[in-house]
Amino acid sequence: MFENEELRLNIENFSNLGYGIARRDGQVVFVSNACPGDEVDVKIDKVCKNYVYASTQKVITPSPHRTESVCPLQKVCGSCQLGFIDYEYQLELKRQNVEDAMRKIGGLEVEVNQPVPSPQTLHYRHKIQYPVSETKNSKRILAGYYKQKTHEIVNIKYCPVQPSICDDIVEFIRNKAFDFGISGFNEKKHSGDLRHIVLRVSADSGKVLVTLVVNATQSFARLRDFAQSIYDEFDVVSGVCANFNPKKTNVILGEKSECLCGKDYIIERILGKTFKIGANTFFQINPKSAENIFAYVKKHISENFDRPTVLDAYSGVSAFGITVSDAAQMVVCVEENTSSCNLAHEIARENKVKNIEINNMDAGKFFAREERKFDVVILDPPRSGCTQESLDNALKVCTGQIIYVSCNPATLARDLKYLTEKGAKISGSIQPFDMFCHTYHIENVAIIDIV
Ligand SMILES: C[S@@+](CC[C@H](N)C(=O)[O-])C[C@H]1O[C@@H](n2cnc3c(N)ncnc32)[C@H](O)[C@@H]1O
Repeated sequence: MFENEELRLNIENFSNLGYGIARRDGQVVFVSNACPGDEVDVKIDKVCKNYVYASTQKVITPSPHRTESVCPLQKVCGSCQLGFIDYEYQLELKRQNVEDAMRKIGGLEVEVNQPVPSPQTLHYRHKIQYPVSETKNSKRILAGYYKQKTHEIVNIKYCPVQPSICDDIVEFIRNKAFDFGISGFNEKKHSGDLRHIVLRVSADSGKVLVTLVVNATQSFARLRDFAQSIYDEFDVVSGVCANFNPKKTNVILGEKSECLCGKDYIIERILGKTFKIGANTFFQINPKSAENIFAYVKKHISENFDRPTVLDAYSGVSAFGITVSDAAQMVVCVEENTSSCNLAHEIARENKVKNIEINNMDAGKFFAREERKFDVVILDPPRSGCTQESLDNALKVCTGQIIYVSCNPATLARDLKYLTEKGAKISGSIQPFDMFCHTYHIENVAIIDIV
């Protein structure tokens, strides 16, 4: 097979990164925008040593699970890789991917339940981060996601997976920035003002926090006037902040922020508790689906333990700690991000949660020096999963069960393999939750017995 070769293929399977899988001449072909059951004409994009990437050019015989795409830009944008597959089948494909990861990476034969669907399959995404650039000649702002495998911005005017107010605010910024002398960022020259637009929307109130990430070290008059115009235009905007990021980096947010108008947070409500969320705070982007996970974990703890001691590791703003605090004797949280910990203290105070301790430090270091024992340890690490040292220490401090919440089936499978090799046992089945409809991402909860 060679680049640009055209082939007709039958799609037999589905990859963990959202590609249809076909086979030709003993080689695996990963096909974008293809679904098991499709017969498609493809063009080869890239030939690697052991596999080949191709893109669908024409659907000859559609899979029965093909449906009208959720978005006209689905193929160009690349964010919703599964947007042309019916939702029920998306869930089944994701379930199979989790099962595969457990078997192939973890060597584990563990049952994976049907995923709990997202309460909303559209308008569910409550955090957006659009990179910004500008047009060459007219210097108008471009804002949207990157085209697949490029740094070319797709100027997204409508995105069905985010609340429609986001489209309106971004369009206002696009149209008005020029009038205020705010330029779009030029990544190659590292010049221009506006690098990213970050919006956080409360699923509870619909209020929006707007953050303008700028290539500067402090605010300036044009920026302050522009922020005021956004604040004045939209009643639902609770505040406009500047975040300063002058560095040559792919990291979106810089370390320093300033609130230019209104408040620098929005309020979210989960299981009757109130959470303050700032621009730089980790919080699940699909709060309604996240609420299902928090409820699942809380129910499990209430049904299996009598007012246990709980360690919430990788705790963010202590969302698990605070939501399970009513069912626990004591909750101890550990999180390395200082602004999340500061917010966690405020959130605990405002919710009158008194049985909580918040530790601002690296989870590994915390575990290593911790001498207390906990009935339940909740682990909710980033996509990279836990270090072996953290897992060893989690086993050391836990006397009952580890509840592992993961957004990456591959690292979950790796870490479960390690824990089971150390003698722990997976209890029951793995429960996936769909937080990211139309994408290949899936969240999972595994319960592990310490034996
Ligand atoms: C997937 S988020 C989970 C947050 C929280 N449990 C929630 O549901 O909102 C992972 C969190 O781990 C934190 N984190 C990453 N590495 C860490 C480390 N080595 N020690 C402590 N916290 C860490 C991140 O800042 C982030 O808040």
